[in-house]
Amino acid sequence: MNAHPSAVAESLLAFWAEAGVDAMLLDAPIDRIEAGKFVQPKPPEKKPLIAAARPVVNAGPDISASVAVAQALAVAAQDLDQLKAAIAAFDGCPLKFEGAAHQAVFARGAPDAPLLIIGEGPGAEEDQRGEPFVGRAGQLLDKMLAAAGLTGRVFITNTVFWRPPGNRAPTVTEQAVCAPFLERAIQLVNPRMLLLVGGPAAKSMLKKEEGILALRGRWFEWKSSDEALEIPAMPTLHPAFLLRQPGAKKKAWSDLLTLTERLDRPHRPEG
Ligand code: URA
Repeated sequence: MNAHPSAVAESLLAFWAEAGVDAMLLDAPIDRIEAGKFVQPKPPEKKPLIAAARPVVNAGPDISASVAVAQALAVAAQDLDQLKAAIAAFDGCPLKFEGAAHQAVFARGAPDAPLLIIGEGPGAEEDQRGEPFVGRAGQLLDKMLAAAGLTGRVFITNTVFWRPPGNRAPTVTEQAVCAPFLERAIQLVNPRMLLLVGGPAAKSMLKKEEGILALRGRWFEWKSSDEALEIPAMPTLHPAFLLRQPGAKKKAWSDLLTLTERLDRPHRPEG
């Protein structure tokens, strides 16, 4: 006897859930701002103190209102706790209403860290726990940091602060809307170096089109939007990629050693 169609559907759904599929996705991400389904928050009246984020490629319709709100909130944050609260209160990123089941995920680590690590965006585990890089990829990252002598010397965050549905890469628009908060975090921590993990973080922070395999292991200068801050930045492979391709670990390890060697080199503070 053939199974009833609903029993077949139930069994298929159970199989997908078991396999970790927890979101229905199309091949390409849907940009909800572009689709016009997202209500833009009103821009603040006060002129933002941080200059506008660098131009966004194919940003779709006007995201300037959301960016302006983000800038005003970010600038008003005087420390990392205030910044975390400002992000949690911000309604301008569509991911908050799409992918995130639980909460905004801001950062973890030392507030005065010499190294600031920027990933792509929170996954399911991070969404649950409210901290970045706490899933399997985060555990691998922590092991690598420990082996390089960097435990306790890093501040870790992401290009977006809410989980993209199904762990897809964040869109350029989503990154642009979150960028003022990320820039403010960099200002407040004032690290000596940035480590950009994975293609989406590297491309968005450095405004580069090349893939991560071409960018990794090289030094770039990240500049704040007002160009007041200039910080050496190195892209490297994402630990989630390393879990899938363990053979690539030696490349990421070599990147981390290059970075640590520069970080530990005696330096004279400016001034
Ligand atoms: N991958 C990321 O890029 N960031 C996280 O916080 C977790 C996984």
